[in-house]
Amino acid sequence: MKSKITKICCIGAGYVGGPTMAVIAQKCPHIQVTVVDLNTERIAAWNSENTDDIPIYEPGLSTIVAKARGRNLFFSTDVEQAIDEADAIFISVNTPTKTYGKGKGMAADLKYIELCARQIAKVAKDNKIVVEKSTLPVRTAEALKSILDNTGNGVQFQILSNPEFLAEGTAVTDLLHPDRILIGGDTTPEGQNAIQALVEVYANWVAMEKIVTTNVWSSELSKLTANAFLAQRISSINAMSELCEKTGANVNEVARAIGMDSRIGPKFLKASVGFGGSCFQKDILNLVYIAKSYGMNEIADYWDQVIIMNNHQKKRFVDNIVQTLYNTVADKKITFLGWAFKKDTNDTRESAAIYIADDLINEQAKIAVYDPKVTRKKMLADLDYLETRSYKANAKNLDTFDNPYDACENAHAIAILTEWDEFILYNWQKIYDAMQKPAFVFDGRNILNKSELEAIGFIYQAIGS
Ligand code: UDX
Ligand code: UDX
Repeated sequence: MKSKITKICCIGAGYVGGPTMAVIAQKCPHIQVTVVDLNTERIAAWNSENTDDIPIYEPGLSTIVAKARGRNLFFSTDVEQAIDEADAIFISVNTPTKTYGKGKGMAADLKYIELCARQIAKVAKDNKIVVEKSTLPVRTAEALKSILDNTGNGVQFQILSNPEFLAEGTAVTDLLHPDRILIGGDTTPEGQNAIQALVEVYANWVAMEKIVTTNVWSSELSKLTANAFLAQRISSINAMSELCEKTGANVNEVARAIGMDSRIGPKFLKASVGFGGSCFQKDILNLVYIAKSYGMNEIADYWDQVIIMNNHQKKRFVDNIVQTLYNTVADKKITFLGWAFKKDTNDTRESAAIYIADDLINEQAKIAVYDPKVTRKKMLADLDYLETRSYKANAKNLDTFDNPYDACENAHAIAILTEWDEFILYNWQKIYDAMQKPAFVFDGRNILNKSELEAIGFIYQAIGS
């Protein structure tokens, strides 16, 4: 095993692989980084001449790609060549929840991971470090090792777990200034050498005391645990938000009061219409599945409740809209401001907006949407994925706009579903003037100023007050 990493290959040019490799390339000019993907369209977009057209929107990312691309950062569809040349191969392919067979709806689908392992096994002619970057069920490294070691060509593989903790919308900052880097590896001398080689890559910009090394299983499980704890905080504050609405308490005040306790801390206490994103639900479902598979039903039920609460929060938001609009939204225009699962990203995976639109369309509402970064094509694909109705029916009931004022014109109600900063700065008087009266705002992110909106004439409802 080489003790120094000089060439990296990353399989998967998505939200994790793309930004992570761009930052490694920026911070390690002596390392050649090649990101490969099966999706030729995606690779072509990463190679767009104008770096504003790269496929993933993250503040600061296009500048980094512009500097490093062609120097020591490459995007390619030639997976085999990149594997062959690399000393370290990062696996960053997606691991969606299984939609078939055993564990359907809960377990992570590892077919792409296995395909990567088989491809690495087939191509590798010299010793390699294989790094799990994708979030995986605990003990996946064991399966990877078994596939890799059974190739019979005598190549030695070391498998490391190096989970990524970046959050979308702040990916570049999170990568440049991580709270910690976690690297899990075998306790054997070879495993420790591999860990050391990867530590040296990160040490180019991360302080040594922030680089934590563990055994492989602890590392794999820590990632699932971190996401479960974060999601649990949101479900906990969302549970309180309903109680606040009934008792006259205000969830923002409660969050502030408890967050000042240094044992609790202020982050991840924002009540919302429900968390989305590619990770929280998937990882908790995965944790629940693992617990069940070991017969630990109490543990499984405990974590499952975080998801149950999140679904309840989305449903409650819809029920409230319907009830407030005099128990019918049929043929009423309801405008969504925001479709992305959080601000500063064009990612919509598991976004609350998708489920809320689906439920309101079931109530025969006409949905209009404005999101600064999400395309109509993506919104329709998201709705279509739910298979509630035909593509044509979705397209008929979902109107999309390039401009928020047009989107809100003649609407009976506005629902704020993403916390984009620009929503706060709109001319709300102008929006009010063009709406049906009474004009309602349902603020699913608690970002607007209640007294200002009420002074204009809106009927304003926020989460948790
Ligand atoms: C991430 C993580 O890696 C995953 O663990 C996390 O839990 C969810 O999100 P992400 O980068 O967000 O994945 O996924 P995505 O944007 O879908 O990118 C994955 C890429 O891998 C896609 O571009 C896909 O084309 C590519 N891929 C997938 C391959 O190149 N080969 C495959 O065999 C499968
Ligand atoms: C998350 C983890 O934060 C990250 O460490 C991990 O690597 C991937 O999963 P991400 O899903 O990109 O990151 O974004 P995050 O900021 O965690 O937000 C997830 C969801 O929770 C969003 O829908 C967000 O709006 C919501 N949220 C977040 C709240 O509703 N309230 C909060 O206080 C914080």
